[in-house]
Amino acid sequence: MNIAVLGSGTIGQSWCALFLAAGHRVVAYDPDPAAEERIIAFVEASRPALESLGYQFAGSTEQFRFSRSAIGAVEDAQFIQENAPEKTNLKHQLFSEIEPHLEPEALILSSTSGITLEELQAGLSDAGRIVIAHPFNPPHLIPLIELLGNDRTDPLVMKRVLTFYESLGKVPVELKKSVPGHIANRIQAVVWQEALHLAQEGVASLSDIDKAIANGPGIRWSIYGPNQLFSLAAGDSGLEGFIEHLGPSFQSWWSSAGHVEFDAKTMEMVRNQLPKDDQDLDAMKRYRDELLVKILRAKFAMEGHGKSN
Ligand SMILES: NC(=O)c1ccc[n+]([C@@H]2O[C@H](COP(=O)([O-])OP(=O)(O)OC[C@H]3O[C@@H](n4cnc5c(N)ncnc54)[C@H](O)[C@@H]3O)[C@@H](O)[C@H]2O)c1
Repeated sequence: MNIAVLGSGTIGQSWCALFLAAGHRVVAYDPDPAAEERIIAFVEASRPALESLGYQFAGSTEQFRFSRSAIGAVEDAQFIQENAPEKTNLKHQLFSEIEPHLEPEALILSSTSGITLEELQAGLSDAGRIVIAHPFNPPHLIPLIELLGNDRTDPLVMKRVLTFYESLGKVPVELKKSVPGHIANRIQAVVWQEALHLAQEGVASLSDIDKAIANGPGIRWSIYGPNQLFSLAAGDSGLEGFIEHLGPSFQSWWSSAGHVEFDAKTMEMVRNQLPKDDQDLDAMKRYRDELLVKILRAKFAMEGHGKSN
């Protein structure tokens, strides 16, 4: 398949690595002339992890081309993964440039984190051509893709998009309506707010709160989400039984959950409790990425998605 990647920064280069690893032809566009070298280096650096996850990388170097124009990237592409900066006007400008040159069946898949589908559609004469396909960073590794179409999207288009991401070994989920932040970022935001609130209240340090999450619910959340996990925690009575048993406690915790602002007090706490100069950030990133691949390998093998089967 021919895939165009528009905007090849943090997210775009990671998509390039995944598409190439899955055996597709990729043409990337970015106005930054240094991007070509950066993408090639990123793809090479990602290769061992992706190969260990079962991706074949059939002839990846020959399958990759960098285009100095957006039009040159989209001609002949069936899917256009758009990862330009998060500015509506800029994305609209890009769409108006490429739209006359798209193949009749080509679809634009936008990685946007915060621009609504309606806002994106306003930049196209054919609104049915665009779907939000929001990855979780880094897209070449994290399985989740949040998809959003609307009443202007043909159901067959959504089906095509779902099938496309599944074929890449991803786990697409479909939102039924637009909401700022989609699903996963909203949930992360709420959890993070409570973590900061607990630290502000002096309940525990930020690093102990992180330990509590990473060694408790975080491990389980990579197996099932909270709804399914709680339904397994009340014998045979499922989620309803769990709510009967522990619902009142949860409700009282919800009503005492905190609200946090990024004001001077919060910033001072962050500076004092997690001083960046005391941490070997590079070593921690290496550890995070190595362990992530090991977890993904186990998950893909058990669940039968990814490319390891
Ligand atoms: N960073 C994340 O964690 C994350 C996660 C999910 C989705 N997203 C979304 O992905 C998109 C890109 O974010 P990012 O973090 O990769 O940003 P980034 O700044 O790292 O990369 C953006 C790239 O777009 C290029 N660019 C500038 N003008 C352009 C134009 N007119 N046309 C095409 N490309 C252009 C820049 O040179 C840069 O390389 C945004 O819509 C963002 O919301 C980001």
